[in-house]
Formats: sequence, C-alpha cells, structure tokens
Amino acid sequence: MIISASTDYRKAAKAKLPPFLFHYIDGGSYGEHTLRRNTEDLAEIALKQRVLKNMSDLSLETEIFGEKFDLPIALSPVGLTGMYARRGEVQAAKAAEKKGIPFTMSTVSVCPIEEVTPAIQRPMWFQLYVLKDRGFMRNVLERAKAAGVTTLVFTVDMPVPGARYRDMHSGMSGPNAAARRVFQAMRHPEWAFDVGLFGKPHDLGNISTYRGEPTKLEDYIGWLGENFDPSISWKDLEWIRDFWDGPMIIKGILDVEDAKDAVKFGADGIVVSNHGGRQLDGVMSSAKALPSIADAVKGDLKIFVDSGIRTGLDVVRMLAMGADCAMLGRSYIYALAAQGQAGVENLLDLYDKEMRVAMTLTGAKSIQDLNRDSLVNI
Ligand SMILES: Cc1cc2nc3c(=O)[nH]c(=O)nc-3n(C[C@H](O)[C@H](O)[C@H](O)COP(=O)(O)O)c2cc1C
Repeated sequence: MIISASTDYRKAAKAKLPPFLFHYIDGGSYGEHTLRRNTEDLAEIALKQRVLKNMSDLSLETEIFGEKFDLPIALSPVGLTGMYARRGEVQAAKAAEKKGIPFTMSTVSVCPIEEVTPAIQRPMWFQLYVLKDRGFMRNVLERAKAAGVTTLVFTVDMPVPGARYRDMHSGMSGPNAAARRVFQAMRHPEWAFDVGLFGKPHDLGNISTYRGEPTKLEDYIGWLGENFDPSISWKDLEWIRDFWDGPMIIKGILDVEDAKDAVKFGADGIVVSNHGGRQLDGVMSSAKALPSIADAVKGDLKIFVDSGIRTGLDVVRMLAMGADCAMLGRSYIYALAAQGQAGVENLLDLYDKEMRVAMTLTGAKSIQDLNRDSLVNI
C-alpha cells in the first residue's frame, strides 16, 4: 500500500463521489495489472541519500517551451473533470495557475475551452484525441488557438478504447446504468447538490459547442466509441503539425522506437505514458519504460511522464530517470473531488515540500542536478 497525500485524498474522494464516478477515476482496464505496476514499480526505485552538502538555496523552478514554471509538474488531461467537482476544469485550472504549473484541458471536458480560459491569466494547454471526425478536430484546434492555448498535447494511445470492466459493475455503463447513477447520487447528497444540481450543464462542452446541441453523459461512451480512429498513423499527424504553430507534445509513448519516431516527426515533447493503466493492460509501467526512452531521445525533445505518480518523491524519481517534467492524473483528481481548487492547491504544496526534502537529502540543488546518480538501483 502506498502512503501519501494522494492516498488520503483518494479516500476522501471515495466517500464524497457516487461510486460510478469514483470507480471511473480509480479503475484501469481489464485485470488492472498495469494500473498496479505503475505505482508499485515507482515506489521500488530507491533514492540515494547524500548529506552535508549545504542545500540552503534549493530551486524547483523549470522552463518549458520558453515559459518559467514553479514546479516541474503539469496536470494531465482528465475527461469529465466537471463531474468530479463543480465546473471542475475551471477549479483545476485556477489551482494550477496559483501554484505556477500548466493545466492541460481534455478534449472530453465538461466545461468548454471558452469557459476556462477567461478564468485564468496564463495560457493553458489543450489535449486532443485522434478522432474520425476531422471537422471536430479542426474546429476545436481553431477555438483553442483563439482562446490563447499555447501547447497542444496530442494523445495517441487511444485508437481504440480499452475495456474498463469496473465501469460495468459500478453503474457508469452496463444494465440499468442511468437508474443506478440516480440512486447513487441520492446517497451522496453533498455531491448531488454541489455538482449534480449546481454544476450543470453536464455535457461535453467542447463537443456540444461544435455540434450545436448538448452531448449528455450517456452519449459520452457512444460518441467516443464511434469516433476513435484505429487507422491513424504518423502521416495523419502532419496536417496537425502544419495547422498548429505552437509546441506539440505526443502523449502515450512507451517504446524507444516510437520515441525516436516522435523526434523524426518533429514533436516538441512526448509524454511517456500508458494512460494510467486504462488502455492496454499488461504493458510495462511508465517508470520501467522511461530510462531507455530518456537514453535514446533526451535533449532532442522535452520528456514528460505520467502514470503512477502519487508523491513528490515519485516526481524526483522520474526526473532522476530522465524526465523533464512529471504529470499528475488521478493524484490531483482525487484532491479536486475531495476539496475542489483548495484541495489541488494543498496537494501541490505537499508535492513541493516532498520534493524539497527528497532533493535536500539526495544532494540535488536544482532539477538539472537530478540524474541516475541520485538513485541506487537504476
Ligand atoms: C478519469 C480519467 C480520465 C482521463 N481522461 C483522459 C483524457 O481525456 N485524455 C487523455 O489524454 N488522458 C486521459 N486520462 C489519462 C491521464 O491523462 C493520465 O495519462 C493518467 O491519469 C496518468 O496516470 P495516473 O492517473 O496514474 O497518474 C484520463 C485518466 C483518468 C484517471
């Protein structure tokens, strides 16, 4: 069992959310083996303790695509965030801005782009899925550009959706799902009032704006299922590269050859990720995949990593293995569900403190000082 602030927020989120939403966040695909590996492999990596090195002026600052950030951490794109907390995307974006880190909005957000960007001063990042409906992709990219989005995160590990059996058990999908969801909401009155009633509209804001009609939660799985595009290849990404002037990050890389292809393609960054164990169950953890990918492409593009990060110590481990920036998925979503914007801010403060302790005791004064020498068994 991993003990961390994420663990406490996970418990609080479980108590607050109707089960269909908690399990949608918490679960992985098929037997959830990769989901477990992500946290377990990371926790196994031993940090090397160093002492008496005068660590008084330690800095966690970083620069990504010419912009300074206070921590080497970004928020990963998470669909349906506005179902876990009232207008959740806005709350998460505000928390990220306050703590000086990037927020990435998911394609399948509840709030549309145009609701989030006016609530923050700094530009946000936007995540796009490869979808059959290229008209939607073009439309949403144009709107992202118009709203001042700087960085595009292009997710490529979902040409088909992995089956998440937990969702069928929990009432997210499966028989009598709609009735079960209403029943569960009634048993979670705090969520039912705060998000269920006052957090409306509950639709996929970016898609509704494009289609000109509301896309309800029930349509979510159907629309996505119909629209994922298994025919996608690197060639299809070229028009996006031409269309998007800003930095482009490819999310969902787990193999050295794919990382090299991303460099050849001209990507500005990759996210080493298995989608938090929600896609191909059985693949290796991000922690295991990262070192050889970093050996192959470090310096050619920015290396981001997610899947399994639950503590500031995990961030330090990932940076020492070669990542430039860590990304948080469930970890921040649990905090958001439990306490909204304040929860995410508090969580990021805890990451900050944990990183400072870990860096002080590994002898790294800046994130550039973190490398394999900071670890024992890699
Ligand atoms: C509830 C949930 C929804 C997600 N939705 C998206 C999404 O819309 N787009 C995307 O690229 N990744 C999505 N992801 C994957 C995350 O961006 C990230 O890769 C993953 O959560 C990292 O693993 P972790 O949760 O163990 O940190 C989602 C993850 C979760 C838990």
